[in-house]
Amino acid sequence: MSDYLTEDNSAETVNARMGKSTNPRLRQVMHSMVEHLHAFIKDVEPTQEEWEVAIDFLTRTGQISDDRRQEYILLSDVLGVSMLVDAINHRRPDGATENTVFGPFHVDGAPRRAMGDSISLDGKGELCLYTGRVLDLDGQPIAGATVDVWSDNADGYYDVQQPGEQPEWNNRGVFTTGADGAYRFVGIKPVSYPIPNDGPVGQMLEKVERHPWRPAHMHFLVSADGHEQIVTHIFVAGDDYLQSDVVFGVKDSLIVDYRRTANAETPWAAEFDFVMKKL
Ligand code: BEZ
Ligand code: FE
Repeated sequence: MSDYLTEDNSAETVNARMGKSTNPRLRQVMHSMVEHLHAFIKDVEPTQEEWEVAIDFLTRTGQISDDRRQEYILLSDVLGVSMLVDAINHRRPDGATENTVFGPFHVDGAPRRAMGDSISLDGKGELCLYTGRVLDLDGQPIAGATVDVWSDNADGYYDVQQPGEQPEWNNRGVFTTGADGAYRFVGIKPVSYPIPNDGPVGQMLEKVERHPWRPAHMHFLVSADGHEQIVTHIFVAGDDYLQSDVVFGVKDSLIVDYRRTANAETPWAAEFDFVMKKL
């Protein structure tokens, strides 16, 4: 085979350049990436102008990203890649709670709150009592589990999207289970909201006639010593966007019936048990 790249030998020629002592996993990943990328180009046969549009899209995706905004993760989310990587890495036995996409709006160091406290600080929205237990696969309660929760507010924005407008740590809190494994807190009944769509990913969605909406959900990050961390949400049953979540995060097992209550202060109730797999 000649060393010069031709249309026929392009992927093999690029891969043959790799050094003999390249890390084996990196070699495998790069080989596969080059093969798939060249096959994609051969399939699509982009014009020069189309290739420039692609380069410009990737350039703008990088340029809009910073410490607070990660447009590449958003791109991975809307292409279903985040959920695929998660599925590959978190194959769990039946009965264990399923993961879903982490999203960009978690903030480390949210206030630790007492069981039963409210996380809703802006007085907006309908309040909901969230209850449940953290269990292992044998149904035994897990004491000392950390339940880190966050949601949008009733206008569809996370506190970090509206600094100065929403109280800091609005709709966020960290709870620790006692001997019974139970958790209990007051939050809002969340609302569906569009992902940030003022950048290249939003423009791409528009061009391919996709909406930017996520169905209403409450985020949970559940951690306990000796158990695999759960990164998930519960989704509000009946939401208009359950079948078309822009980031493909919905799973049947995570859809919860929010019940009406007779309590004027917390007119809604949602119950969900988390079942953790041992490490
Ligand atoms: C979220 O649920 O917070 C989210 C997930 C993926 C992309 C954007 C937002
Ligand atoms: Fe969210």
